[in-house]
Amino acid sequence: MPTYRFTLNGSPVTIDSPSDLRVLWVLRDLLGVNGPKYGCGLDECRACTCHVDGRAFATCSTPVSEIDGHDITTIEGLAATVPGAGPGTLHPVQQAWLEHDVPQCGFCQPGQIMMTAALLAQVPEPTDDQIDQIRNVCRCGTYFRIREAIKRAAELMARDRSDG
Ligand code: FES
Ligand code: FES
Repeated sequence: MPTYRFTLNGSPVTIDSPSDLRVLWVLRDLLGVNGPKYGCGLDECRACTCHVDGRAFATCSTPVSEIDGHDITTIEGLAATVPGAGPGTLHPVQQAWLEHDVPQCGFCQPGQIMMTAALLAQVPEPTDDQIDQIRNVCRCGTYFRIREAIKRAAELMARDRSDG
């Protein structure tokens, strides 16, 4: 069985795995990282969204062979990506999600937050049309609060940039 090495939430990881095992199952079953969720397995619902080198990707549809040597971040490691992060630090997207009390059942929310964090890293002030490009499914219908929280997260990040 091949060996793969990558960085997971800032720590080096080495695993032996079939080359076609999807990253979602590497994270959940081999590494016990359960933030990314299984919804469809078809790159449709985006409940499984994590970051590879800062970009959002569907872990359910990506074989582990494609992340070899890359930097993977899950919801568990998102806050630690904030410069100067310490115990209790939240990523601005997480802070905005709390302020707007976004989750209902919560199942889709790790993916929603990871997708939003990746968007705001690329597009600091997204338009409504750009926000609508996010296609993550929420079966509880929290879309209105998600939109408001994305705008709030953009504000928080702009404030952090001006303070920094
Ligand atoms: S579980 Fe990955 S896109 Fe649905
Ligand atoms: S909060 Fe329940 S699926 Fe989105």
